[in-house]
Amino acid sequence: MHTRTIGPLTVSAIGLGCMNMSMGYGPADDDASTTLLNAGLDHGYTFLDTAALYGGGHNESLIGRALAGRRQEFTLASKGGLTRTPDGESTIDGRPESLRRHCEASLARLGTEVIDLYYLHRLDAGVPIEESVGAMADLKQAGLVRAIGLSEVSSTTLRRGFTEHPIDALQSEYSLWSRTPESGVLDVCAELGITFVPFSPLARGFLAGSSQDVSTLEATDLRATIARPRFEPDNFAHNVSLLTPFNDIATGVGCTPAQLALAWLLARADSRGELRYVPIPGTKHLEWMRENGDAADIRLDDATCNELDTLINESTVKGTRYTDALMASVDSERDRD
Ligand SMILES: NC(=O)c1ccc[n+]([C@@H]2O[C@H](COP(=O)([O-])OP(=O)(O)OC[C@H]3O[C@@H](n4cnc5c(N)ncnc54)[C@H](OP(=O)(O)O)[C@@H]3O)[C@@H](O)[C@H]2O)c1
Repeated sequence: MHTRTIGPLTVSAIGLGCMNMSMGYGPADDDASTTLLNAGLDHGYTFLDTAALYGGGHNESLIGRALAGRRQEFTLASKGGLTRTPDGESTIDGRPESLRRHCEASLARLGTEVIDLYYLHRLDAGVPIEESVGAMADLKQAGLVRAIGLSEVSSTTLRRGFTEHPIDALQSEYSLWSRTPESGVLDVCAELGITFVPFSPLARGFLAGSSQDVSTLEATDLRATIARPRFEPDNFAHNVSLLTPFNDIATGVGCTPAQLALAWLLARADSRGELRYVPIPGTKHLEWMRENGDAADIRLDDATCNELDTLINESTVKGTRYTDALMASVDSERDRD
């Protein structure tokens, strides 16, 4: 696979989001996930994304077990500052002493001595970003992490954090239907040389055609909980109508809808010169994992990118990105998306 850089790290142009193997989009199976993780490395993925939050630590333990013996073959990204109790309660805590504790617990679960890229998962509104970033810089100084990142922060917070210590990566939701980063953080990433890592690049399966409306989803599915508005039956019926022309474009390009969604992201980065994007689609299916990785080879022309831009964007889809309650906890540029 082509590669990109994140600070001192070199990673595959498309990374593997691992959250689904522990939570999010229906039941997962550890044996199947172990097979998928190993097959992912064999297929050329060298960038894995996890977090202390995912499955309350299950995801990190799974990766540690599944890839024991292959640690040198991949760049490992994890996140702290947001944790989940066994009964599903999430807590944001960006205090320095908590980040140190979260990082040490992640290292133990992952069975590794160093996490290559360590993100603050969410800004803690009660802790100045400088303090959280300073704590991550201390983790780097101590040799526990190699590079640091922030997730879902506004451009103002990103600049403030960078002033405390250089930030290597910014991870936020970005896809055709979630454009918030275009309001500021992409410009700041380009200016400061920060690699941008789009999460949920397939719009939680919507752009790949594998999502359904909330009435058919499990109550714990993230599309029925935090990302609910766009998957509400009325909104979804409108949104899904956009997929017919979208799928036609994919057919014209000669790729799958999921690959088209990823190729659009990579083309957006190319059009911005030095800005680097590393999308991290997540899947539990072997064939989808391979299909998504192969999107790194697809090049879209400007006319196709413009057509996609116009077809699916925050004005053409119905429903907001998150529920109001969740949006209130995100340090976002604006609320519309
Ligand atoms: N920083 C943050 O706050 C944050 C938040 C959310 C996610 N993330 C990270 O980003 C990663 C990806 O995001 P995501 O999982 O939310 O969303 P996503 O990658 O946009 O979509 C995942 C969904 O798409 C389906 N899918 C994947 N490839 C497909 C294909 N080729 N064809 C059809 N369907 C396909 C998956 O199905 P199956 O699962 O059934 O295979 C799953 O339901 C996560 O794993 C996690 O590491 C970070």
